[in-house]
Amino acid sequence: CGIVGYIGSRNSQSILLDGLKKLEYRGYDSAGVAIHTSSGLRLLKTKGRIHELESRLQEQPLAGYAGIGHTRWATHGKPSDANSHPHTDGESKISVVHNGIIENHLQLREELEALGYRFVSETDTEVVSHLIAHYYAGDLVHAVRMAVGRIRGAYAIAVLSEHEPDKLVAVRWASPLIIGAGRGENFIGSDIPAILEHTRDVYILNDGEMAVLSRDSVELMTLEGNFIAKQLLHIDWDMVRAEKDGFDTFMLKEIHEQPRAYRDTMRGRISEAKQDVFLPGVKLAPEQIRGLKQVQMVACGTAYHAALIGKTVIEQLTRLPVEVDLASEYRYRMPIVREHTLVIAVSQSGETADTLAAMREAKQAGARVLAITNVIGSSVAREADDVLFTMAGPEIAVASTKAYTSQLIAFYLLGLHMAQAKRTLDPVLQAELLAMLERLPAQAEDVLGQAASVRQVADIITKHEHLFFIGRGLDYSLAMEASLKLKEISYIHSEAYAAGELKHGSLALIEEGTPVIALATQDRLLEKTISNIKEVKARGAYVIALALEGNTEMAKTADHVIYVPRTFSLLVPAVAVIPLQLLAYYTAVLRGNDVDKPRNLAKSVTVE
Ligand code: G6P
Repeated sequence: CGIVGYIGSRNSQSILLDGLKKLEYRGYDSAGVAIHTSSGLRLLKTKGRIHELESRLQEQPLAGYAGIGHTRWATHGKPSDANSHPHTDGESKISVVHNGIIENHLQLREELEALGYRFVSETDTEVVSHLIAHYYAGDLVHAVRMAVGRIRGAYAIAVLSEHEPDKLVAVRWASPLIIGAGRGENFIGSDIPAILEHTRDVYILNDGEMAVLSRDSVELMTLEGNFIAKQLLHIDWDMVRAEKDGFDTFMLKEIHEQPRAYRDTMRGRISEAKQDVFLPGVKLAPEQIRGLKQVQMVACGTAYHAALIGKTVIEQLTRLPVEVDLASEYRYRMPIVREHTLVIAVSQSGETADTLAAMREAKQAGARVLAITNVIGSSVAREADDVLFTMAGPEIAVASTKAYTSQLIAFYLLGLHMAQAKRTLDPVLQAELLAMLERLPAQAEDVLGQAASVRQVADIITKHEHLFFIGRGLDYSLAMEASLKLKEISYIHSEAYAAGELKHGSLALIEEGTPVIALATQDRLLEKTISNIKEVKARGAYVIALALEGNTEMAKTADHVIYVPRTFSLLVPAVAVIPLQLLAYYTAVLRGNDVDKPRNLAKSVTVE
């Protein structure tokens, strides 16, 4: 979910709406605002996207200088007007927006109902507004503190009350929240883009911290009420980057930004002589790297698929054993963390609840944690011992593209950095790899130029309801990402299979015309993959192959071939994924889907 808050001397309605639009990627099944108007606290909330809220507000504007807003991704209670935020107490004097999950809400609800409080929604959040009302005795900050003392779980909360309309109260535990400092006005946001248009100076709240905002001041304190001093963080991102730049969708824009993202992620990290990789945020000393016994990786979604590639990269370059886990599995499987274990958490947003929990689990078990993340100041970045930032810039489309490929670049850099310490790579090979790494952005540009050939494939697969991706080795890991991309935005069912495994069951699903997308970019495994292609062709499959330039054999075997430039096998996924992203994209467009905001999904999942 997304939160925005404003207090100042401008009309808060439009500032809240603009902020919510910037946050729509955090969830978009309902939205609402609460504004303090001349006739008291007023709420307007509705099921549906922000533009629905906007048109309702056009009909009945709410004028006032202080307000809070919310865009929701349902966790407790279906998307509906009643379940939309803000929530209020029975007398509509207190309004609350919340992101997260309150674990003990049922128990609190029963307790409050027994005291006579009447609930109007199914949400966990409503207990917070009633609790604040319950504890209110002339001091809003005190009442919020008391209420928060009763709740367990994850929350970022913003509160506006008619009792004390000259202040906003914000509090955070395990869900991101920032405070924007302006002149004669101050802001609350669950994410920086929400307020970037108005101020670049922000405070990032930590767990257990709260902020009290008035027009002219921001007071920061702990939940116990002790005042704290914090440094303002100056954000120097360019807002234009968070806009569409002339592309039809954020996803297409982000696909095209990949060459730039690769360059930015490598920038300043490779020595002139192509001998060294510098990673300033990675504090592990060479002797500590040499002492490592194992690596474990945790991530979710697309970041998990990047970690699967990362496993092969780290294993091949350093010969260290690597395990990869879904964060939601790792956190509950009592992972075995022996001495000298490095855990790598991969997360675009740096706020994914499962990834954060897995990483805390690892830390507690004694692992050293290294984060690969795209967001400076994110929870994952702040809690890790070492951080390697991907420099993809803000990613808005729900389906991740440039964040994934920037994670691959980060893995190449990390693998080479570790290999350097472990002396597992011949310096000549190291220099060659680094030189080829630096060629990737130009190769990615070439691949982007082949969009027309990919469109032809989209025309073919759009008529089908299910298909397969097959591959071996790195191509298998890549197949998983290609399959996820297609599912997420085109809603075509697809499965990624290790090419050699299909015959052990799922081959039964191949019928005349079933599309099989065969990834065959790994020279060492090429012959094996070709025989798997023949297996599916013999059962009637229509085979679309992804092969390296110069592979003339493939044109004789497959029905359609998409070519990608040659480079070191390890590096190929960073270029080979691009046509697969484009394939998902064009198929979704042909099907008339909302590419940037696929149904049922959210960009940043900060709940379990
Ligand atoms: C959500 C997004 C996915 C993303 C995953 C992990 O499910 O829809 O695109 O891969 O979260 O996000 P993270 O920010 O941790 O990389």
